[in-house]
Amino acid sequence: MSDQNTKGRTSYDISIVRPQMNHDDFKMRGRDMEPARLKAIKKGLLTLHTLELMAITIYRFQITSENSQFNRQLIAAMCNEMTHYQDFQVKLYEFGFKPGVTRLAFWFAGFAFGFGSRLLGRKAILKTGIWVESKAVQHYAELLDTIDWDEDTRKIIEKDQADEDGHISKWKTLLESEVSQ
Ligand SMILES: [Fe+2]
Ligand SMILES: [Fe+2]
Repeated sequence: MSDQNTKGRTSYDISIVRPQMNHDDFKMRGRDMEPARLKAIKKGLLTLHTLELMAITIYRFQITSENSQFNRQLIAAMCNEMTHYQDFQVKLYEFGFKPGVTRLAFWFAGFAFGFGSRLLGRKAILKTGIWVESKAVQHYAELLDTIDWDEDTRKIIEKDQADEDGHISKWKTLLESEVSQ
């Protein structure tokens, strides 16, 4: 299954929740880049890293112990966001940067969205997912358009953006079936 909403710009396989990584995929990056380019990359990676922490936390607090397909889908989405978080944490260190210390605020935002929507039920969970993921896709597009990424990092960002599109499609489909019930 390829992504539905990136208007055919990408052909990333979003059925792969956690792509394989080999030793050779890890590289020290950006050492010969201009300071202005590096500065933009740093800001972009820090933004993506914190957004993904929020996404993990939202899904984490939406999952209940109920044995259901709904929870199974939320667990898969949480795993996918953990992969994104890992992607950007690795890239930060490869470029010689460190994760931001203010990201705790994003954990709390994620907790508020996640736990709050869980209390309100499935439709609220799905609507929250669609809203947050749509914001994420916009954010990704902006960062892809405005920053001069190296090729490897750009591909990771595009794949992760396609994943977010996949989440939107999934939640929209589930929301339609909830509404028609
Ligand atoms: Fe994500
Ligand atoms: Fe997502």
